[in-house]
Parts: sequence; structure tokens; C-alpha cells
Amino acid sequence: MQSNHQGFMSKLVHAGVVEDPNGSVITPIYQTSTFAFESSQQGADRFAGRDKGYIYTRIGNPTVRSLEDCVTTLEEGAGAVATSSGMGAVNTVYMALLDGGSHMVSTASVYGPSRTLMEKHYSRFGVSATFVDTSDPAAVRAAIRPDTRLLYVETPSNPMMQITDIAEMAALAHAQGALLVVDSTFASPYLQKPLLLGADVALHSVTKFINGHADVVGGILVAREEPVLHRLREVMVTTGCNMDPHQAFLVHRGLKTLALRIERSQANAAVIARWLESRPEVSWVRYAGLPSHPQAALVQRQMKGPGSMISFELEGGLEAGIQLMNHVRLAALAVSLGGVESLIQHPASMTHAGVPRTERLKAGITDGLVRYSVGIEDPDDLIADLEQALEASLMPARV
Ligand SMILES: Cc1ncc(COP(=O)(O)O)c(C=O)c1O
Repeated sequence: MQSNHQGFMSKLVHAGVVEDPNGSVITPIYQTSTFAFESSQQGADRFAGRDKGYIYTRIGNPTVRSLEDCVTTLEEGAGAVATSSGMGAVNTVYMALLDGGSHMVSTASVYGPSRTLMEKHYSRFGVSATFVDTSDPAAVRAAIRPDTRLLYVETPSNPMMQITDIAEMAALAHAQGALLVVDSTFASPYLQKPLLLGADVALHSVTKFINGHADVVGGILVAREEPVLHRLREVMVTTGCNMDPHQAFLVHRGLKTLALRIERSQANAAVIARWLESRPEVSWVRYAGLPSHPQAALVQRQMKGPGSMISFELEGGLEAGIQLMNHVRLAALAVSLGGVESLIQHPASMTHAGVPRTERLKAGITDGLVRYSVGIEDPDDLIADLEQALEASLMPARV
């Protein structure tokens, strides 16, 4: 049973679940590549779209549709397209919404491969892009050209938790006849609703908060209106970056606890961010929930909460950051984010190693910056872990 009037938690649990003839309370895994037709007429009707039943799993599958329907309900969109990975979703957006010779404006600190895909590959087909600080509307206005077809924004952005004003971007894009796509991975549908703020597509790497258990890679796109949904679906189906039914089952199971997980990890992050700010070894802390965040007012206006991602710099710079990461015990030294387990990483040598140093520094990604994805463990244990790691980092190295 589901209804649009239900609260978010009820939607998380019930939206999209298929009615199963055997009474299964969750959507079963339809692990099949193809679907039998009752007659050749039915097969013809399905291909012609007169019968909405399933044909072939790359085109559509009930387990995948169940997840798509749930996320559509959460984002309040017209429909969703699940993909094999977050990058599959990014590629689907570029291919579906840009033409040869057209132009895109995008966030400068966007996820590295989203930028590489455009600069190294789409450029070969005559598509061009300008990367600017999208938290500055004047910079976006200056970058928009008559041939701009897409404004692609990542907010909050990684790892500096820079926030872009979605409603303002929607107005700028639409005034130019362009579409606005928001990579909302760092917020999840619990903390931010891009479509309600005017975006045309909300994009997620479901690998992160939506799945939340560090055991699946996947992506999803939610469109505000049917024509855009249709373009996205056609590209996903023909490029073959569909989500697998087993993958969709795991993501949908993880999704049901999204709000509980985020409430807990966000509360942990608030405690840890304040603790880090009080430590003499830490030169600065960037967390969207601290009054020191330069866009604290926009966070309050645009998001339900600040989330659980923290970046900080140690007084000792690069060497101190490396020592800290080598000494943490409870948090895992790993890239990715948004899972129940805390993860720590060093952007300059890991996720952003491919970005030239001058570009990195321009985006605020200093050599000693450490990114921490706070999980749902006990906050005292997480702080004790960081404390012992900070203290061990200051000790002379053992020989
Ligand atoms: C903001 C953002 N968008 C997209 C992606 C790509 O997602 P995936 O790794 O699932 O392909 C990532 C991955 O880290 C990301 O952080």
C-alpha cells in the first residue's frame, strides 16, 4: 500500500513494492533475461507499446522497475532510469541531452570521471564544456552561451562540500532553453529534492547513500517530465548500461533504511566536526553543518540537513594527513562514501590525483586535506579512533 500523502519513511519502506501473487512482502528478484509472451499478438503489442508488459531485461525488469518506482516517489518525479553505475547515469545524461556541436556548463569540482568523460571523450564528437564555480551564479551566467544545452551541477560537491543554489541554476538554464541536471549523490533524496527546486533531472550514484552498505555499484536518474525521461531511457537501453535485477534488489533493500542511516551518520558527523574543530592539530574543518561553512544559510534553505561528509586539513599538511590515515583503525582507508561504515581517504593522492595540482588548489583541495565519510558506528568509538590516530601520527616513526 502506498500513497503520495505518506511521509518519507513510509515511502521508503513501501513505494514501488510489486504486488506478488504469492504474497511476498518485498519485491522478489526476477532473475531472468527475457519474458515469455502468451501469443505472437502479445509480443507484437509489447514491442509496439500497446501492452506495457516486460520484453527483455535490458529494456525493463520488474525488480529494477520496483527500485525505479520507489526513487521516483522519493524525488517526486515523472519516472526513473536505473543504470549499471553512477558513471553509467552520467554518460546517459550526456548522450541523451547533448548534440554534436552543443555546449555544457558544469561544476569545476565535479566528480573527476564526469569531467574526464566530457573533456577526453565527448570533445571528440564536437561537444564542448566550460567548468566553473557553480556556487557563483555570476560565473555560470558568464559561461552560458547561445549553444548551451545543459547545465550540469554537483551539489554538495566533493570534497569541499560546496553548495550550488539549485533554484537559481534552474532559472538560468531555462532562460537559455537548456536543461538542468543535478548530481545529488552527496545529499540523497532524503536531504535534497532537486526536481522540486526546478531541476530537470536528479542523478545519483546509488553506490553511496541510496544503497548505503558498500556492496553494490549502481546509478539512477529521475526526470521531472516524461519527454526527458523518454530520452534518457532510450539511451540507457540502447547503450546497455542497465541495472541488473540482483543489483536492484540489494539497492532497494538498502534504500529502505536511508532516513535512519542518514539521521544517525549526520548526528555522528556533527559531533566529530565540532571535536575536530577543537583540536590543535587541525587547521580547518569543512562540514555543511558548522556555522563556519561559507554557505551555511543556503544549506539551511536548500537541504533538510547537512549530511555526513567532513573534510579537514591537519597542521602538519600532507605528511600528517598520510600518518593519520595510516593509524586509523575503526574507519577504513578507502574511497567511496555514504555507507554504514566510516571511510577515510586522501583526495590529493587518491580521488583527485588526476587533477593538476594548480587546479586542485584553486578548488581548495590542498595537499593535506583528508575526507571523512562518517558512518553509523558509536560516536565515542569514532572519536577515540581519530584521537589515537592523531596522537600516533605525532610520535616519531618506529624503526
Ligand atoms: C558525486 C558522484 N557522482 C558520480 C559518481 C560515480 O558513481 P559510480 O562510482 O557509482 O560510477 C561518484 C562516485 O564516487 C560520485 O561521488
